[in-house]
Amino acid sequence: MEIGCGNGHFMVEYCRMNPGSLFIGVEIKKKRCLKAKGKIERQKLTNARVIHGTAEAVLELLPDASVDSFHLYFPDPWPKARHRRRRFLRRDNIAILQRKLKIGGFIFFITDYFDYYLHTKVLLLLQAGLELSGQTPSQSVFRSVFARRYAEKGKEVRALAAKKTGEPSG
Ligand SMILES: C[S@@+](CC[C@H](N)C(=O)[O-])C[C@H]1O[C@@H](n2cnc3c(N)ncnc32)[C@H](O)[C@@H]1O
Repeated sequence: MEIGCGNGHFMVEYCRMNPGSLFIGVEIKKKRCLKAKGKIERQKLTNARVIHGTAEAVLELLPDASVDSFHLYFPDPWPKARHRRRRFLRRDNIAILQRKLKIGGFIFFITDYFDYYLHTKVLLLLQAGLELSGQTPSQSVFRSVFARRYAEKGKEVRALAAKKTGEPSG
C-alpha cells in the first residue's frame, strides 16, 4: 500500500515489476487519483487499485496484520512548527501502520526534509514491534514527480525502512 500515491508513478512501476503483488494506492486529491487510474488503464495493469480518500480512513478498514509493506514517499512535510501535528507519520499513525503490517513487513519512507526524517527515525525506533532496517525502497520511487523535482533542485533526500518484528506486548 502506498500512502499519498500522487499521480501513481511509483505504483505503476512497482506493479509492472511485481505482477504477483496486489498494490493499493491511497490519495486524497481526486485529480491525482484520476491520473494514477489513467496510467493503470493505459498499461493494462490488473494488480493496481487507487482509492480516493484519506489514508487514515482506509487504514481503519484493513484487518490487522494484513499488509506486506507501506510506502510513504515525500509525504507532505508541513515544515512550520505549528503545523507539524498534521504530518502523517506521527506517533499514533505509526502505531496503526505497525498493527496493520504482517510480521516481517516493512514501512518505507523517503523525504527531502531533514527534520521530518529525524523525527520519524526516532518515532520508528520508539515503536514497539518495529526495528529499523537497512532495506532500501525500490529505486523506481526516484522517478516519481516529487523525486525528480527534488533531484533537479539538487536537494538531498533521505530514506528509512522499518521492519515489523512482532506484536507490541500489553
Ligand atoms: C508531496 S506528494 C508526493 C506524491 C508521491 N508519493 C510522489 O512521490 O510523487 C504527497 C501526496 O500525499 C497526498 N496526501 C496527503 N495526505 C494524505 C492522506 N492523509 N491520505 C492520502 N493521501 C494524502 C497528497 O495529496 C499528495 O498527493
